[in-house]
Amino acid sequence: MVKIWICGSQGQLGQAINQVGDPLSFEFFNTDLDIQDITNLATIMNFGTMNTPDVIVNCSGMTDFHECEGNPQDAFNVNAVGARNLAIVARKIGARLVQISTDDVFDGTSLSPYSEFDTPHPMTVYGKSKLAGENFVREFNDRHFIIRSTWVYGAGTNFVTSFLSQIQRESTLSIASDQFGSPTSAIELAKFILNIIQTSEYGTYHATCSGSCSRYAFAKEIMRLSGKRVRIKAVPTLQSEFSSVHPAFAVLDNTMLNLTGLYQFPGWKQALSDYIQEIGVNSNELV
Ligand SMILES: NC(=O)c1ccc[n+]([C@@H]2O[C@H](COP(=O)([O-])OP(=O)(O)OC[C@H]3O[C@@H](n4cnc5c(N)ncnc54)[C@H](OP(=O)(O)O)[C@@H]3O)[C@@H](O)[C@H]2O)c1
Repeated sequence: MVKIWICGSQGQLGQAINQVGDPLSFEFFNTDLDIQDITNLATIMNFGTMNTPDVIVNCSGMTDFHECEGNPQDAFNVNAVGARNLAIVARKIGARLVQISTDDVFDGTSLSPYSEFDTPHPMTVYGKSKLAGENFVREFNDRHFIIRSTWVYGAGTNFVTSFLSQIQRESTLSIASDQFGSPTSAIELAKFILNIIQTSEYGTYHATCSGSCSRYAFAKEIMRLSGKRVRIKAVPTLQSEFSSVHPAFAVLDNTMLNLTGLYQFPGWKQALSDYIQEIGVNSNELV
């Protein structure tokens, strides 16, 4: 039985890990902001030493782009200092640490998918604070898995759920055709995390569903799978309904997973189809 402490357990990814984790194999300690604030080193040290998890998974974060831009101090406190604190606790109790990071550590100007060997160059407070969090984790605990993902959707508000609710209200939607990413199901990401923590293959990984698309193509696929119909127009980001809060080019290549043969993600369309089935959207019923 592997004991896992999930910080940020009420978020999309935290919930997904709980959903896919076999209770016969994993014992979960779930905490979120209301119970354990990761910016408070003393209280999380206390929690860690009392419960001695084998693995800490940091799914917490200040993830809202606008909130981060408006409150950079808070963003660095949660995304960087919080990660540092968990790394200190993990080192003290001999636990492995999973730090979830993001494509936003890159500037999004590339024309080809980013690999783990590309040099980060974040442009936003969110991206800068997440990169600082990565670096603290590397500095304070050797036994780490830094996992970068992108365009994650799960239980919560995300592009898929926002788009589906917009369909109910609008007859025409304008969607960016100049933003690219790899839509990644939180469930698929959770399965990967529970797999890799049982290895000693520490390091930094890009972890997304395979394939990539534009926002516009993503929206079209959501419509096709959900059976919903609305007129969508392909437009530049600035004219789009869902304004960009991500780098324009957010495609990550799972280079390390491919080189090591450690794990293969499903295609993004298959994972999206599973998600849409799970949330129960059919042609007569909207979210
Ligand atoms: N969603 C994406 O597209 C995406 C892509 C790449 C990487 N990531 C990263 O993946 C991780 C999980 O993402 P997600 O989509 O599951 O995020 P999420 O749904 O926003 O969940 C984050 C959770 O962290 C909690 N939290 C915030 N500040 C905290 C603190 N000081 N101490 C403890 N918990 C705190 C939040 O609580 P409140 O709700 O109460 O604030 C929330 O429950 C994040 O680190 C994010 O940066 C996300």
